[in-house]
Amino acid sequence: LTRRAAAQDLAGLRVVVSAGGTREHLDPVRFLGNSSSGLMGWALARAARLRGADVTLVAANVDRPAPPAVPVTPVTSTADLDAAVRAAAATADVVVMAAAPADFTPAAASGTKIKKSGDGGLELDLVQTADVLAGLVAARTDPRQVLVGFAAETPSDDADLLALGRAKLARKGCDLLVLNAVGRGRVFGQPDSEITLLTADGAQGPRAGSKDTLAHLIWDTALRLRSSR
Ligand code: CTP
Ligand code: CA
Repeated sequence: LTRRAAAQDLAGLRVVVSAGGTREHLDPVRFLGNSSSGLMGWALARAARLRGADVTLVAANVDRPAPPAVPVTPVTSTADLDAAVRAAAATADVVVMAAAPADFTPAAASGTKIKKSGDGGLELDLVQTADVLAGLVAARTDPRQVLVGFAAETPSDDADLLALGRAKLARKGCDLLVLNAVGRGRVFGQPDSEITLLTADGAQGPRAGSKDTLAHLIWDTALRLRSSR
């Protein structure tokens, strides 16, 4: 790690990393959210900075100190994330979407706290949020810009994981998809993970390791994709 960090092979590159999980407010005190810890995004930002990149970290609801020398733009909802990432991506060489955006948001948030009515339940009317990554792919003007997505899936087996990943890579149109299997206590909030890297050329992995080690592997691959253009 130290030797690779000293290589400064990302010097001169502007990179954007998104991290954490977005929240969609139902009312002033409640939200729909997810359990993304932000650890992978933090590891990616730290690794890129160590290798000399100019890093912007867009963080959705992550309660940790910023990595050294990395400016953090805090966001709450998927719409906020979309605006912040789009703005930063306009001048970026690489964008890594490690954040877990909420896919649905209330059709109309209540301005006041929702009250129980009798012993009845509650039906929520939800609409889809903007797909940030798909928006980046559509808005790309620099053909050398590298766009990286993440996919956490709950597959039935390893073959299913790859099939889900290939379909998502094709649907999103990004250059690299970092796949991991979640569920049964795996990945979320843990210092280690296991990833498979999917590109149009094929699959690399699965590789297990600390999120710091895996972050370096992701930058190696992103850099290789950029050099090949
Ligand atoms: N993503 C995004 N905007 C969204 C949802 C997801 O940019 N509104 C990004 C994530 O940050 C990730 C990639 O897209 O890099 C894949 O996210 P994922 O949730 O796996 O994909 P979805 O298209 O939302 O599909 P699914 O129905 O499986 O959740
Ligand atoms: Ca999703």
